[in-house]
Amino acid sequence: MKKLISITSYLKKIDSLNSLKSECLLIGIYEDKNLNDITKILDTASSGSLRKLIKRQELTGKLGNQLYLPELNGFQASKVFFVGLGKKNKELNEDEFSSLSNAISKISISANSKIIDIFLPEIKVKTNSSSWVYKILARDLESGCYQYFFDGKKDQPKNKLKKVNFLNLEGKESKQKLVSAIKVGQIIGSGMNTSKNLANTPANICTPTYLANQAKLLAKRYPSIKTKVLGEKEMKKLGMDCLLSVGNGSAQESKFIIMEYSGGDKKSKPHIIVGKGITFDTGGISIKPSPNMDEMKYDMSGSASVFGTMRAIGEIKPKLNIFGIVASAENMPSSTATKPGDVVNTLSGQTVEILNTDAEGRLVLCDALTYVERYKPASVIDIATLTGACVIALGHQATGLLSNDQGLAESIMKSGYSSCDKAWQLPLWDEYQSDLNSKYADIANIGGRAGTITAACFLSRFTKSYKWAHLDIAGTAYGGKVGKTSSGRPVPLLTEYLLSRK
Ligand code: BES
Ligand code: MN
Ligand code: ZN
Repeated sequence: MKKLISITSYLKKIDSLNSLKSECLLIGIYEDKNLNDITKILDTASSGSLRKLIKRQELTGKLGNQLYLPELNGFQASKVFFVGLGKKNKELNEDEFSSLSNAISKISISANSKIIDIFLPEIKVKTNSSSWVYKILARDLESGCYQYFFDGKKDQPKNKLKKVNFLNLEGKESKQKLVSAIKVGQIIGSGMNTSKNLANTPANICTPTYLANQAKLLAKRYPSIKTKVLGEKEMKKLGMDCLLSVGNGSAQESKFIIMEYSGGDKKSKPHIIVGKGITFDTGGISIKPSPNMDEMKYDMSGSASVFGTMRAIGEIKPKLNIFGIVASAENMPSSTATKPGDVVNTLSGQTVEILNTDAEGRLVLCDALTYVERYKPASVIDIATLTGACVIALGHQATGLLSNDQGLAESIMKSGYSSCDKAWQLPLWDEYQSDLNSKYADIANIGGRAGTITAACFLSRFTKSYKWAHLDIAGTAYGGKVGKTSSGRPVPLLTEYLLSRK
């Protein structure tokens, strides 16, 4: 996915805003009953228009307040938008800023202009720096421009926005720092868009083979990424029977995809992200009900986030080794499909009794998690639309987080806050493990009432030799506020986490 807009920044003093020839000007203002320094200058330039608007309470500066003026007296801009930033000396928290940033992105895109000039005074967000503020803004602008793009069809953007100018970066941090933060933000937004497009692609196109081809394309584009793809024959030879059991009923070949980004020292241990890549989840023989089953094309969102993150990493080029793994299969019912009660081998040597073929994510992930042991990883995070129970527990707001290492869990939580892409931890206590006891194998693939926790307990049986965390994105990858479309989450969280490993 190429960048959708070009973002630049330049200095422009507030007292010359009125003379700026602009197609569209967006100005952030604080809430203030009296005119403050900024509104005073704007008011003078517009011969008192602002004072009137403030008096009529149309322009309040309250956080999120918006006003559109097709023209403003004394101003050269064709359209002017105002957005409220709240009280000047009250710092915002990340949530408040995130919705402000999304509002700015929405205004910019709906303004129906090719170029938008954005003027923001300093915005204070807790302990975050100005470069953080601009990173998130750039990300949300890029990500906001996303529009589903179908392979082979011409990309005809519905919105006109081509260029964003951030004005007034003066006196905040070094311009160089701000510009590089804007760049990183935009790359993350573009990684989110890669992830969204893959996830939105219908399952008749987006098959395990299609995902494998995406990985090959990524390696072509970024010389620092090497891709390896294992097909069913190779997996069988290795003993990945559990992963293979999921695709038994499908005409599509299952694939195991390895993307190795080498930016660090040869000897430095890699950080690994592992995505669930079920390109369609019918449930298999334990078939799902029909309503909304189309949403199960999103069951490869974990792997989509791996692709989006790897792309961002390929662009940012951190001095780290980062591997992206995708375990991909299609879960279909057929006469060759796995049946409830079947017992299969895993790569680890443990046997699994498949009591429910709809609990298939853990079956592909467990073999992937055993496979990555060979890399002696510094950390492993798997990302999966794993359980409906997670949507019940946390809704569409937070990703479920479970880990065998509290330090790792806390780093991930922190990255979630600072990328406005939050995760919330659930317990992975031993007392849940017995829910997975099986009469006929070492472990059953379902059990107990705490669905998200027992799913993670299942995975934890395969991750004992390294620091591991599991992200359940069933609620956050799509749906909710964004509607029936992919959100691009948790690309921001993952990128933030990985970049903080330096
Ligand atoms: N892909 C689903 C989980 C899911 C459900 C994601 C709804 C997004 C929205 C997963 O493979 C699944 O079917 N899980 C089962 C597990 C159960 C059989 C133990 C579930 O959550 O119902
Ligand atoms: Mn399922
Ligand atoms: Zn699934």
